[in-house]
Amino acid sequence: MFLEVKSPEQEDFPSLTNSPALLQEKRFQRHACYLDKLSKMASNKKVLVIGGGFCGIGSIKCLKEEGYDPICYEKTSNAGGTWYYRDETPMGMPSIMPTTVINHSKEMGALTNFIPNKKFPNYMRHHELLEMFNDVGNQFDCFKHIVYNREVTRVKRSSDYDETGKWDVKVKNTETGEITEETFDAVFVCIGHITYPKIPDFPGMEKFQGVIMHTHSLKRVDGFRNKKVVVVGIGCSGLDAAVEISSVSSQVYLSSRNGAWIIPRVGPYGLPFDYAMLRRFANVIQNTFGYKWSSWYLERNFINNKFNHNLYNLRPIYCAMARDPSTNDIIPAKLISGSVVLRKNIKCFTEKGVIFENESQVTEADVVVMATGYSWKFPFLEDDVVTKEDGRINLYKCMYSPNLKHPTLPIVGFLLPFGPGFPLGEMQCRYAVQHLSGHLKLPSKENMLEEIKARHEENCQRYAPSEKMTVRVDYINYMDELGSEMGVKPNMWKLLFTDYTLWQALFFGPALPYQYRLQGPHKWEGARKAILTAHERVRYPLSGEWKKSTKRNVSVGQYLKYIVTFLLLAYWLAQTQESSVKYYLVALLIPYFMTWNGFYKKYLFCLLMLPFFVTWQGFTSCYMLTLFAPLLLTAIASA
Ligand SMILES: Cc1cc2nc3c(=O)[nH]c(=O)nc-3n(C[C@H](O)[C@H](O)[C@H](O)COP(=O)(O)OP(=O)(O)OC[C@H]3O[C@@H](n4cnc5c(N)ncnc54)[C@H](O)[C@@H]3O)c2cc1C
Ligand SMILES: NC(=O)c1ccc[n+]([C@@H]2O[C@H](COP(=O)([O-])OP(=O)(O)OC[C@H]3O[C@@H](n4cnc5c(N)ncnc54)[C@H](OP(=O)(O)O)[C@@H]3O)[C@@H](O)[C@H]2O)c1
Repeated sequence: MFLEVKSPEQEDFPSLTNSPALLQEKRFQRHACYLDKLSKMASNKKVLVIGGGFCGIGSIKCLKEEGYDPICYEKTSNAGGTWYYRDETPMGMPSIMPTTVINHSKEMGALTNFIPNKKFPNYMRHHELLEMFNDVGNQFDCFKHIVYNREVTRVKRSSDYDETGKWDVKVKNTETGEITEETFDAVFVCIGHITYPKIPDFPGMEKFQGVIMHTHSLKRVDGFRNKKVVVVGIGCSGLDAAVEISSVSSQVYLSSRNGAWIIPRVGPYGLPFDYAMLRRFANVIQNTFGYKWSSWYLERNFINNKFNHNLYNLRPIYCAMARDPSTNDIIPAKLISGSVVLRKNIKCFTEKGVIFENESQVTEADVVVMATGYSWKFPFLEDDVVTKEDGRINLYKCMYSPNLKHPTLPIVGFLLPFGPGFPLGEMQCRYAVQHLSGHLKLPSKENMLEEIKARHEENCQRYAPSEKMTVRVDYINYMDELGSEMGVKPNMWKLLFTDYTLWQALFFGPALPYQYRLQGPHKWEGARKAILTAHERVRYPLSGEWKKSTKRNVSVGQYLKYIVTFLLLAYWLAQTQESSVKYYLVALLIPYFMTWNGFYKKYLFCLLMLPFFVTWQGFTSCYMLTLFAPLLLTAIASA
């Protein structure tokens, strides 16, 4: 089945007068008509999606493309989940600040068959993200499937579950309090997991006369004017809180027990960091040489060269790829100017403030903001569905309970990714839909448990301790893992011979989500173009339309310089007796050339120059090496 997807590039920038309230009103009207129609329709499988956030809308979209007609219950009166800003966020709901900016870039965080509007900035603010959410919902006509103010309070196996895999669902109308019960063939759980604030116990907390709060309830910072504030925790929330509060407070102390690697949004040459870093060839290197090597490279060349984490006493005991990134560009400036001061963990509270570890003096504080993260729960599920054992969360592929016989209760979006979360969530939706339709089969309970244990143990080797250790994933590896089972992972071998331009973009370019729509179920005709034009959309909000004439051309003089350098090198090599030196240099030069822009030209140039490097003895092997290097890399990439 092919999807006709309009390119938003052709559309006007969504009108800002389309306020959430107005959109909501329109949705209610359309929804009334839809419910009427739905009741008359005979649907082969009745599918419920719980939650109207990004994963909820992703599930509706993916279920629809497979021919299902899902219904979605959202407990609030708005769709958007995390990205629908609320001035006051109730417990059990994700909370953002008015200044929250997403920490993955728009192209890397796109859905696999939806191109974000090129006018959006590369790192969107929450209201732009909500606009994008609305664009997705409207383009795939998802909103008519959502019923608002319906809280799912119980999901229980039906009496005939063993045969049918059905679920009995209890739903509360949050406006009237009315409770209804329904039975569904399948239930997609998309309720998020950054919802229940975690406040640790510190000795003497009860004595403290100031205010203790969690970032979950931190919205505006006016109340912190001229106050002394301690922020505990150095994840994204802690960094955002410290930066925002320090703009008005008299002093912010940022307390961290382990330190952290602070990853910027602005990457090399001003490109979005994830767009510059998350590349298939780099992933091949990581998978081949191990994450420690990649981590060292990342720390040395892209983190510490911005600001040395040793100098700032921030360097954690674990490496940069051992935790989901703490993203912030402003904190170094705050630390160097002293408006934020780094401190160790809190040893104890006193009446007037706190004493940090390695210190004996009291640091006075008016407010302590706990940015200590969130715990997770699925309060409406039966106890044996998502179980925890030896610190392990028992979910196959981070989605399916091994205690269930049928693939009718996928948990979607319960991931702590190293990379963008949205495409991963959407991939899970696609995977769950393929299971529901019977195109994929879950392994036996024993095999599922084995996979879960292996994933958990592997994660324990790599990652810093976390309550959510089992659900930590690497973006490309996890996309590939689910993608290969579904047959949507791009076939790099085939592309190398049939579409070299695309192969090059996929292998050396950013690992864009659209590549998982090039083949397999629900492939999308627009995927290739979306990949090859991504850079224009990255560039657009920064410098407008790409004028081809501004592209730097390599002049004849420059080519001459290259040739002269090569000939001199060749002459020197010809004088060298030791042939291994030559091979080594050639081997060094090949990848150097291959990563440049204008790969084709450089590659041919390299081939032509090669005979100068080597004597006849080594000529053939070096020539073969250069010729087959791309094949070799592809082989490793496809392994
Ligand atoms: C401050 C903050 C910043 C973040 N930044 C990023 C980021 O930069 N990149 C990234 O990838 N992720 C980020 N996240 C993670 C965020 O969870 C994802 O971006 C994404 O929004 C998750 O979507 P979701 O649909 O799984 O969950 P949510 O957005 O949490 O949506 C869940 C929805 O389910 C509804 N719901 C819950 N329980 C019920 C019920 N019982 N019945 C009916 N409805 C229910 C809720 O009302 C909500 O609308 C951030 C989270 C926070 C809190
Ligand atoms: N701008 C954004 O896009 C943005 C903003 C906010 C949040 N988020 C996302 O929201 C999620 C939650 O982020 P978060 O920062 O709230 O939580 P988090 O990433 O879990 O970080 C929690 C921090 O609190 C510390 N901590 C936890 N328990 C502690 C204890 N008992 N004593 C002392 N310190 C303790 C942790 O230290 P250790 O590291 O030592 O465990 C860590 O530094 C993440 O996925 C994040 O990406 C994104």
